Amino acid sequence: MSLAPPNNSVTKMEFDFIRQFILERSGIALDANRMYLVESRLGPLARRRQLNGISEVVARLRAQRSGDLALAVVEAMTTNETSFFRDVHPFESLRTTLFPEIIQQKGRVDLWCAACSTGQEPYSIAMVASESFPQLLSQKKLKILATDLSTEVLEKARSGRYSQLEVNRGLPAQLLVKYFKRQGRDWHISDRLKDAIEFQQTNLLTVRVAQKMDIIFLRNVLIYFKEDNKRRVLTNIRQALRPGGYLFLGGAETILGLDAAFETVRIGRTLCYRLK
Ligand SMILES: C[S@@+](CC[C@H](N)C(=O)[O-])C[C@H]1O[C@@H](n2cnc3c(N)ncnc32)[C@H](O)[C@@H]1O
Repeated sequence: MSLAPPNNSVTKMEFDFIRQFILERSGIALDANRMYLVESRLGPLARRRQLNGISEVVARLRAQRSGDLALAVVEAMTTNETSFFRDVHPFESLRTTLFPEIIQQKGRVDLWCAACSTGQEPYSIAMVASESFPQLLSQKKLKILATDLSTEVLEKARSGRYSQLEVNRGLPAQLLVKYFKRQGRDWHISDRLKDAIEFQQTNLLTVRVAQKMDIIFLRNVLIYFKEDNKRRVLTNIRQALRPGGYLFLGGAETILGLDAAFETVRIGRTLCYRLK
């Protein structure tokens, strides 16, 4: 038995294997210069699982490509950066334009928050509804489906527990006081908001949602994909959107050249896409 500390650097062959594995499982395309990212994310994972460095992680994945370790590796390679009311304007456009329009048309709103990470995005949407259209929540006329690939982030999202640092990012003080209770060092979100949201684990590469949504938030996830997978995800997303429904992407993302079924709509200071 070797007593040498595990080696957390990754060889070119191991990196290529991980890159391909992550691409197949999640659609996330790691650039060729991202070896450090694999080392910094999978090194700690190997340690937690008492494996002999990334080499042993790779060896085990080669032998068994599904199961618990495979899931943990994919999850470790996702980037889960998010915050309350991220980029503000999409949430503003719900308040000023889209919620009133859809409420008038059909009296309820069905919204899918795809790639919801740790939940700040769907909870921000629920707060917009509660503040400006309280009947949506009190009459259970708002349904938010919130999904992500990572079970770890979904667990946190479901718990609705956030640290001081997390609530300091983007959440106005009056909403913190109104919708959160302090418990120990954390802030817990109110059950009233939680009740409007259903969290589910899904992979955007393969997902099929039977329901027709009025609005889909698909923000800050396509940037990690190559063009073929972007198209594939957009096709899956489009099937879950009703004609005339709206799609929001992240500020650095566009649908132009990828899917001709959408037209661009400007609402206040945000751009979104309407399914023709
Ligand atoms: C950067 S976060 C974006 C969170 C939020 N939408 C926002 O804009 O703040 C990207 C999320 O996409 C998820 N993700 C990556 N690949 C995915 C896939 N194939 N299917 C579903 N979710 C995926 C990651 O787990 C991560 O939580």
